[in-house]
Amino acid sequence: MIRSQETQFGNILKERFRRRSLLGGLVKAIPAAALMSGKPARAAETVPAGEPLREAKKDSRIGFKAIQPSRTDSVHAAEGYRTATILKWGDPLFADSPAFDPLAQTAAAQARQFGYNNDWMGYFPLPSPESANPRSALLAVNHEYTNPELMFQNYGGFANQTPEQTAIELEAHGLSVVEITRSSSGSWSFVPGSRYNRRITMTTPIEITGPAAGSDWLKTSADPSGRRVLGTLNNCGGGQTPWGTILSGEENFHQYFSNGAAVTNPALRRINTVYGMPEGNGEYPWARHHARFDMGKEPNEPNRFGWVLEFDPYQPQSTPKKRTALGRMRHEGCTIQVARSGHVVAYSGDDERFQYAYKFVTKGKYNPFDRFANENLLDEGTLYVAKFKADGSGEWLPLVFGTGPLTPANGFNSQADVLINARGAATLLGATQMDRPEDMEANPVTGKVYLALTNNTRRTDRDKDAANPRANNRFGHIIEITEDNGDHAATTFFWEIFILCGDGKQPSHGAFFAGYDPSQVSALANPDNIAFDSKGNLWISTDGQPGTLNVNDGIYAVPTEGSERGFVRQLFSGVVGAEAASLVFNSDDTALFVSIQHPGEGGKWTSNPNDLTSRWPDGRAPSRPGVVVITRAEGNPVVGT
Ligand code: FEO
Ligand code: CA
Ligand code: CA
Ligand code: CA
Repeated sequence: MIRSQETQFGNILKERFRRRSLLGGLVKAIPAAALMSGKPARAAETVPAGEPLREAKKDSRIGFKAIQPSRTDSVHAAEGYRTATILKWGDPLFADSPAFDPLAQTAAAQARQFGYNNDWMGYFPLPSPESANPRSALLAVNHEYTNPELMFQNYGGFANQTPEQTAIELEAHGLSVVEITRSSSGSWSFVPGSRYNRRITMTTPIEITGPAAGSDWLKTSADPSGRRVLGTLNNCGGGQTPWGTILSGEENFHQYFSNGAAVTNPALRRINTVYGMPEGNGEYPWARHHARFDMGKEPNEPNRFGWVLEFDPYQPQSTPKKRTALGRMRHEGCTIQVARSGHVVAYSGDDERFQYAYKFVTKGKYNPFDRFANENLLDEGTLYVAKFKADGSGEWLPLVFGTGPLTPANGFNSQADVLINARGAATLLGATQMDRPEDMEANPVTGKVYLALTNNTRRTDRDKDAANPRANNRFGHIIEITEDNGDHAATTFFWEIFILCGDGKQPSHGAFFAGYDPSQVSALANPDNIAFDSKGNLWISTDGQPGTLNVNDGIYAVPTEGSERGFVRQLFSGVVGAEAASLVFNSDDTALFVSIQHPGEGGKWTSNPNDLTSRWPDGRAPSRPGVVVITRAEGNPVVGT
């Protein structure tokens, strides 16, 4: 385990503050105490010319009055906003889809219906990526996981799960692509039977591409080529490319597999330990019904998961591809930026305590004139992992076979090996172990990159560091990264803490909102997926507030520049037991789509109505994960100015 040395958090903050003040920006928001004393910050001397700090435009401010958090089982948005549920688990997507009947659900029906536990979403305007149509689009939606205790009435538990229930779960995973449209009255709905509608599930044929394709580690009895896999698992975060494709990250794939103790190859056993593969039963009993989830029978099957999937939503027949060049981990979002040089950069977090933040830089360059010329751009390039240094600088360390410790002496015999065990490679390189890296997003106005860290209650005083400065980090934090010269392909960067989450009115939380008066901001914890509006305000969805702030998860907005930098306001509150898992704007920011995931988690659907904690959205059992759209009553941008 390589961890940065313990650092005094107070000093770190002062260091950051001084640097900001020396940069000439935003001194106004800095507390006097933080400006006092100390020698000039080293980082300031090396700040690149053209550092994109600027005062926010007046119109980038946020125009709504924050709501109070809620614990109720209905959604709430700020005054002047309206909300509507446009997609729910089980909604029939195709002309031949059976109506949703939760008491008689089948795998065949689920394969033709909206999946379970919607998470990340992408907005793909119709008829083409460049059309920027704000009224009609394909909504791409990840379906992260299943809650059998909420999907099946009187579910009998792990030991009694039926083969059909397993088959339903397989079809409830993956993604949906659904055409959505806004009517002249301003209301949004999905288009059943659209020729674009598509389900990708745990049984869809998918191609494996890039350096790890064909590796012996990816070969199974069903696929001796190591190049073709059935399905995708635990699709949590994601991203969209400028050439109009979906990127979908496979996160907690380990929990579907069982029987790791039966794996005999010692090298594979080591990799499995790094990836948390279960020695006995996983979370799901799928191994009982399908040999490929039994590691004793198919030891390499798990190696075919933990990748980023890419496919073209505009071509419903296209074969999805797992892009192994981006590395194998518990992938969160995959956010694309095109560097000034034309190289394409993909940022992605590995969501586990003490795991890492990564970026991938393509070898080839983006072709803005021919979207199909970019088809396989993500198959070749360099994967980097982040090292955050205590002086506010940082380094992107390349994960390249044969360089540094990534050699046969340490178990790496090819670039495929490095990618399949990216975590092990990153640890050897001395990357910084983070507090659960979730989404990373770039500000469209300043180019700065924001990294959401959900929490890490296992961090202690002994292993805290500058970038993860709190022991028992229950509330999570957000880091702001400025790439050297504002170049997304750079291998060095500057960073600072943007927000330390918590309730600013509770001094014991130690919350920090970029220097903004903590008593004025909405309490915020457990940042998960994030997004930007086109004016450069950061929008945050949360995962875990019922356990940390005793309120439902929700949606928050915060300016990143100007006098209101750090002024967090809550726009929206979700429902009981649910995570506000993800958020995406339409192309003119007049609609904000929000994923309500696992409503009622913690309860169960039985014959006893008291066992169910949420009846959202239909007011009756079962609760249904779904997509909510938030709009301004008068059709103005959601930011409210
Ligand atoms: Fe599936 Fe990391 O949230
Ligand atoms: Ca997430
Ligand atoms: Ca995002
Ligand atoms: Ca989550």
